[in-house]
Amino acid sequence: MPITVRRATTKDLETLFKIERECFTLEAFTKQHLAFLLENPYNIRLAAWKNNEIAGFIIGLIQNFNETRIGRVYTLDVAVKHRRKGIGLKLLNELEQVFIKKGVENCYLEARTDNVAARELYRKYGYTEVKQLKDYYFKGIHGVLLVKKLL
Ligand SMILES: CC(C)(COP(=O)(O)OP(=O)(O)OC[C@H]1O[C@@H](n2cnc3c(N)ncnc32)[C@H](O)[C@@H]1OP(=O)(O)O)[C@@H](O)C(=O)NCCC(=O)NCCS
Repeated sequence: MPITVRRATTKDLETLFKIERECFTLEAFTKQHLAFLLENPYNIRLAAWKNNEIAGFIIGLIQNFNETRIGRVYTLDVAVKHRRKGIGLKLLNELEQVFIKKGVENCYLEARTDNVAARELYRKYGYTEVKQLKDYYFKGIHGVLLVKKLL
């Protein structure tokens, strides 16, 4: 069954929150925060569907800085049972395509230093680690800032 990517809406909140809890522990969004992100029409909210169920989602946003537009990947989540099937890469690619259409020059994101899967995915997809973020998530839980030039 192919993977299709559609806009995620607040109707998907329960499923997305379940996946969010599977994906993250301490740093998981609350259901309220996720609802807030889904409601904001300026955010790019995409869900990947496989076998008639949501297998993962991505949320991105665009920020204007002086004359330039930058994109940020706010979260990328793939349900455990759907991992290593290319869904993470597909969602990232779809978000980048939206960013490119909207004139975003650079895409930024953060990942936990100990998140081997995410760092490997981003490295594979052309992201460069540009800064260590000490205590970014919590005290002792560091992050790394990554960037990819899109335009
Ligand atoms: C990171 C995550 C989104 C990857 O999603 P996925 O759909 O399994 O990833 P893909 O199948 O598209 O993998 C693409 C590539 O990323 C790398 N990768 C993915 N998972 C990996 C893992 N567990 N270990 C090492 N490399 C991994 C591989 O290079 C993989 O290619 P391959 O399968 O051909 O070897 C998923 O593991 C996840 O949701 N994790 C929890 C949430 C999270 O960490 N999100 C990112 C926050 S910054």
